[in-house]
Amino acid sequence: DTATFSTRPDGFIPVGTIQELDKKGSLLNSKIPALIIHNQKNSQDIFVVNPTCPHAGCVVKWKGNKEEFLCPCHGSQFTANGQLMKGPAHQGLKPYITKVEGNLILVKP
Ligand code: FES
Repeated sequence: DTATFSTRPDGFIPVGTIQELDKKGSLLNSKIPALIIHNQKNSQDIFVVNPTCPHAGCVVKWKGNKEEFLCPCHGSQFTANGQLMKGPAHQGLKPYITKVEGNLILVKP
């Protein structure tokens, strides 16, 4: 609902919950836009990236089995930390400043 996902006085926006992330493996919040993943296997580290591909603006997908982001449009690949692995994109994905409060994942746009 819109109340849950509005900007807070500290500038952070809630983008999802740990519970949902653990259930689905990755979480896309297309409103922000934000793609939330665990960026190391078997770790609780949370990484949130802007999934807009810097090549032509498609939304990248998280490939959990390969631990990389893949752009469905022209095949650009990015590491689990958003760095460029393979073009045609010329730069990596933009990470968000992220924090977790209880079950809630928040980012600062
Ligand atoms: Fe992502 Fe072209 S838009 S590779």
